[in-house]
This record gives sequence, C-alpha cells and structure tokens, in this order.
Amino acid sequence: MQNLNGRVAVITGAASGVGKQLALRLAREGVKVALADIEQGALDEAVAEVRKAGGTAFGHVTDVSQRAAVDGLRDAVLAEYGKVHLVFNNAGVGGGGGPTIWETSEDAFRWAMDVNYFGPLNGILSFMPVLIEQGEEALMTSTSSGAGIVFPPSGAAYSSSKAALIALMEVLAYQLQMAGSKVKAAILFPGPHVVDTRLFSSHRNVQERYGDPSLRAGGGINNVDEFQAAMRHLIGHEVPLTQPEDFAEEVYASILRDDFYILPLEERTKNAIRKRYEDMLERRQPAIPDMM
Ligand SMILES: NC(=O)c1ccc[n+]([C@@H]2O[C@H](COP(=O)([O-])OP(=O)(O)OC[C@H]3O[C@@H](n4cnc5c(N)ncnc54)[C@H](O)[C@@H]3O)[C@@H](O)[C@H]2O)c1
Repeated sequence: MQNLNGRVAVITGAASGVGKQLALRLAREGVKVALADIEQGALDEAVAEVRKAGGTAFGHVTDVSQRAAVDGLRDAVLAEYGKVHLVFNNAGVGGGGGPTIWETSEDAFRWAMDVNYFGPLNGILSFMPVLIEQGEEALMTSTSSGAGIVFPPSGAAYSSSKAALIALMEVLAYQLQMAGSKVKAAILFPGPHVVDTRLFSSHRNVQERYGDPSLRAGGGINNVDEFQAAMRHLIGHEVPLTQPEDFAEEVYASILRDDFYILPLEERTKNAIRKRYEDMLERRQPAIPDMM
C-alpha cells in the first residue's frame, strides 16, 4: 500500500510497546489512528502522546478477547472516521504457565488463546466485512511472534497461540488472493531481538474470569531488567534488545512494499527455522532450537 496519508488505522494493544509506536509512526504519515487497549489509563496517555506529536487519534477501551467489545470498537471507528483501511490486531499477552505443559493450568492456555488467537480472530470477524464492503485498498494484520515459528522449550501456551495465529493469517491471505480482493493480509513478528516493551508484565491484564492465581503472579519476571537477569543466570549473558520504535519503522517500510511476513530476522533465527523444517522433512525428533 502506497501513500498512507489520510487513511484510517485501528491498532489494538496500542497503549504500550509495539502498538503505541505503530500509532505514533503511522500518525506521522498522516494516518488517522484509533487506539484500542484494555488499560484505560495507559490508553489515555498514549492518545495524548499521539495528539501532542500532531497526529489525529482517539482511544477506545477494548478487551479484544470479547467479540462484542471488538464490534464496539469497529462501530466507534466508523462513527469517528467513517472508514477504516488498516487493522492491526496487535494486543497480546505473554501467557503464563509452569515449566512444563503438564504443570500448566488450562486457564493459562485459555488466557493466551483468548487474547492472542481469538483477539485477532475477532478483529477479522468484526472488520473484514467492512473492509470488503468499502471496496478500497486495505490491510488486515495480526501480530504473531518468532515463538510461533520455532518454539522455546517453555511457554507452550504462548507459542501455541501464536502458531495458531500464523495458520489463521496465512489462510486469510490465500482466501483474499482467491477472491481477487483489494484487501491484503500481513503478519507481524516483532524483532529481530526481544522487543523492549511491557510484555513481561502481561499478568497485569489477566481478566477476572481466569481462576488460576499463578497467572496473576506472573512467572517471577516483571520487566525487561528481570528478564535480562534471568538470561545472565541461564545462558551467562544478557541478550540484545530491539526498541519498539525501530520495529514500527520496519512495519511502515514493509507496508509500503506489501510484505506479508513482516519478519526481521537474524542468522540464528533463520537457522532455527531451517532446522525445524529439515527435522519435519526428515521425520526426526524436533531439535530444541538455539534462539538466544
Ligand atoms: N516484546 C516482544 O519481544 C514481542 C515479541 C514477539 C511478539 N510480540 C507481540 O507483540 C504484541 C505487542 O506486545 P508488546 O511487546 O508491545 O507488549 P506490551 O505489553 O507493551 O503491549 C501489549 C498491549 O496489549 C494490551 N492488552 C493486553 N491484553 C489485552 C486485551 N485482552 N485486550 C486489549 N488489549 C490488551 C496491554 O494492555 C498492552 O498495552 C503482542 O501480540 C506480543 O505477543 C512481542
């Protein structure tokens, strides 16, 4: 998609991290942005930041795991701007869970799937009919993760939700191609390194309906500093970080190129992807990926 000036974007998970930087970056190009998030206070601040930078923005509190809430977001966007061209199903949570799948509660899996998979699905169900009906160039995106392509040996709730999302978006892309639609799909993989955001404190947003108290406690890591301390302990060194504004820049450039996989990669990750598919083709036991 060329020349984004004057188009309308809706971004979920826009109160923080990748979503907020996307809102700021697109607003700089003259895109009118709708910021959605479950956290009212942070959302209000993010909207104020975009406006202060000269952008056109409004906020709408939305729990993406609830279809009715996402329908409400769609209605609010249409009421405010009349149209919508770019949808970023970006809200996500790090998921919880124990060291193994069998020590992880069903709630941990349901929370990760509800936000990371059903959230984007709700975005597609609510917004796609509008995009198609409009008959204009448009883009439907979802934010997955490298952890949905090659899986770390822990955090299966997160990885499986992000892997399921890749399947959903790839099939969406096929279907849009088959329909000859002006709507395109894309999938975001924040990186190339761990992105310095508030994802490590995702447990701040666990909804009341999940009973497992360990979800609300988090996994003992609450921010990037504690994550780096854990890395020093586990692998003997800290890992490089990507700033969310750098990833947002990459997303902007990728939209102009019509990329489907918005996937900044370093050599180690490329090798892990190759290894995974080789294991599959050779029918081997899957090798534990070297991702750090
Ligand atoms: N940070 C990374 O290294 C990294 C890597 C790969 C993928 N991702 C993905 O990037 C996306 C953005 O995450 P981030 O890293 O910017 O983290 P973040 O925590 O800074 O931002 C995520 C936002 O989503 C919001 N959110 C959480 N649950 C929600 C819900 N039910 N409804 C609406 N909003 C909700 C949070 O309030 C927060 O503002 C996520 O999908 C995440 O899984 C992040």
